[in-house]
Amino acid sequence: FTIAADKIKAHIEPNMYGIFFEDINMAADGGVYAELVKNRSFEFNSPLAAWTERLKGGGKGSIEVVDRTAERPENAHIIKVNVNATTGYFGLSNEGFRGMGIKKDERYSFSVNARKPGTGPITMLIELHNAKGAVIGTGRLTPTATQWKKYAVKFTATATEDKASLYVWLKGTGAIDLDMISLFPEHTWKNRPAGLRADLVQKLADMKPGFLRFPGGCIVEGRDLANRYQWKKSIGDIDKRETIINRWNMEFKHRPTPDYYQTFGLGFMEYFMTAEDIGASPLPILNCGMACQFNTGQLVPVDQLDPYVQDALDLIEFANGGPDTKWGKLRTDLGHPKPFNLKMMGVGNEQWGEQYIERWKIFTKAIKDKYPYIKIISSVGPFAAGEEFTRLDKFFRAQHADILDEHYYQSPKWFFDNAKRYDNYDRNGPKIFAGEYAAQSVGGGSPENKNNWDCALSEAAFMTGLERNADVVHMASYAPLFAHVDAWQWRPDLIWFDNLRSYGSPSYYVQQLFSLNKGTDVVPLLQKGEMVSGKDGYYATASIDKGTNELIIKFVNSGATAQPVKFNIEGGKSYGKTATVITLRSADKAAENSLAAPTAISPVKSLINVDGKAVNVTVEPLTFKVIRLKA
Ligand code: AHR
Repeated sequence: FTIAADKIKAHIEPNMYGIFFEDINMAADGGVYAELVKNRSFEFNSPLAAWTERLKGGGKGSIEVVDRTAERPENAHIIKVNVNATTGYFGLSNEGFRGMGIKKDERYSFSVNARKPGTGPITMLIELHNAKGAVIGTGRLTPTATQWKKYAVKFTATATEDKASLYVWLKGTGAIDLDMISLFPEHTWKNRPAGLRADLVQKLADMKPGFLRFPGGCIVEGRDLANRYQWKKSIGDIDKRETIINRWNMEFKHRPTPDYYQTFGLGFMEYFMTAEDIGASPLPILNCGMACQFNTGQLVPVDQLDPYVQDALDLIEFANGGPDTKWGKLRTDLGHPKPFNLKMMGVGNEQWGEQYIERWKIFTKAIKDKYPYIKIISSVGPFAAGEEFTRLDKFFRAQHADILDEHYYQSPKWFFDNAKRYDNYDRNGPKIFAGEYAAQSVGGGSPENKNNWDCALSEAAFMTGLERNADVVHMASYAPLFAHVDAWQWRPDLIWFDNLRSYGSPSYYVQQLFSLNKGTDVVPLLQKGEMVSGKDGYYATASIDKGTNELIIKFVNSGATAQPVKFNIEGGKSYGKTATVITLRSADKAAENSLAAPTAISPVKSLINVDGKAVNVTVEPLTFKVIRLKA
């Protein structure tokens, strides 16, 4: 193989490899959003879902759900608890999201909005129970205010448990109104109160992602328009963020999730701040007046699109506007005077057809008229190929669209074969955002799909093609991102977790290796004058990093035998006497990582000797290698 290290072929966008976030597989509620109480504000379709009435030591009582829609339509239900417990307790327990993950010696913060109209004290005993019913944490409160007031108590857990539940015991006589019953670990990402699960955000930070796309995915569209994602309802006071049913709430036969709602505790402010924390450019995707076409496919008539378009314009002002603008001031009031430096926005998630084109034109004109610097991400539908894909692709090319969002959930074979996909793309047309992709071992959205090494290796091969064509492909993100082991609807996924632990799939390490080793510019890596993309099972790309003066080689051997490989480096610099080699491999295509063996397939670093102008290395079978040489 020869590498022309002094011939720049393409510039690599600094934010090329990013993250696709969607609240699917309990990624947000029950996942990265660290709230442990499910249905904390009694807004599920069954207001007492996840709650159970409890009696102890002779205490009695009853629970009424009170509807206050006229007064508070966005948080319509509260509970009135009638307590008759001078001896013993009356109360209720919450099951959490497939249980609650509690860690020994960690502090937990319980809070509740309460109002106690009558006389006589009602005291509250908060308990955490393990799966066997033993108490592993205790706090006490005495709500006395006759008007709504937030009460809070912190306590330390005495044991670790991944299926804990929360008990709220009441003692006394009379009635008490309750809402927003909440429990968070004190330790969260950056220790923000009521924040995000630190281990999960750390996994994102460890990818050093170039961008964070949010909030989806199909949840942008919603199963119907009433249940679409509306960013303005996802910011500000937590108890004013209206809970809606999640698009992924389903009677999926393998893992039913009829209890899947969106509380928006992880809302647009949190998304923007997380992106900022992990050094990623924010990439919001907005509803374009179309509900999910795989569900109801509801449409907003084009003459009624204004509020939707206004949401997009206001979001840009919210992200970038100064304190003298309405939405910029709101961002400042929410504690973030510094703009978020929004540079791009998606119009519609995975939309297609004439209806999309009509709406896209209206959005694009309005956004470009007011904010010409915003790059618009346009959907070419859920298809990687096919008539509709070609039609949309042609349309957007004719429109000189900025960036096209291609999605592909395909077999490993497709990924290997499509490593060449962009080699002959039009260099003068729109740029490509490989916005959602994952190799599926079985395909067709089957729950049997595995996160195995075969899939990950094929993605690595495919990504050599993305990078080789970095002049066309400006952004790429794997999808979906997160999945709860007990509550998923879609697989494979990048990162898996339970209530206490998490692990990256082999695909996670592929993504991470590309992101951490991208370099600044692609240089030609050829075998007998040809690009290395499939012949003999080899896939490769090379880049230089102008900042660190390094040459970076990425090489996939998808074959069954070890191969001695020699790279001759032509032109320019001499690359020292040693190189760092990072190897990701498994001898078994079916191998996976798991909670029990989280890093079974993970990168291993070594040093090899080189002679400055040539690298000799043996690439094992079924292996992805990154080789870094310093000039
Ligand atoms: O990533 C899962 C889903 O796949 C996304 O919600 C959607 O955009 C695509 O169909």
